[in-house]
Amino acid sequence: MKKIIIINGPNLNLLGNREKNVYGEISIEDIEKQSKDKCKKLNLELFFCQSNNEGEIINYIQSAEEKYDGLIINPAAFTHTSVALLDALRALSKPKIEIHLSNIYSREEYRRKSITSEGVNGLICGFGYWSYILAIEAINNIINS
Ligand code: DQA
Repeated sequence: MKKIIIINGPNLNLLGNREKNVYGEISIEDIEKQSKDKCKKLNLELFFCQSNNEGEIINYIQSAEEKYDGLIINPAAFTHTSVALLDALRALSKPKIEIHLSNIYSREEYRRKSITSEGVNGLICGFGYWSYILAIEAINNIINS
């Protein structure tokens, strides 16, 4: 069975309570459940995690080289600031996809630049929790192609 990791960055633990007009009512636990259901259908094993700590996220990315066949990441605000996350993503040889719930290109100017997306295969944004589901579908295709 192929294994993937989904990493969620800072403040995503607050989903469901945080800026509902932007991110909707769905909680991180619900997104985890939807993601697990999708992975089950595709026969993928999923490790789903969230951290508010940049160093911990880097450790998760590094762990993917040995432990996982693919990586999906919502780097949240680190998307727009973190060269350290970009370097970690660049160092990873496995398929990797960046996702966002919101369409970062239709929001504030400072969100329109994704530093981290320079280190991934592709980017899916703007589909709410479906961004996660679409990314799982895409990474499954890449892993099995
Ligand atoms: C986000 C978009 C980021 O700009 C923001 O900082 C987040 C969430 C998204 O999923 O839409 O925390 O990554």
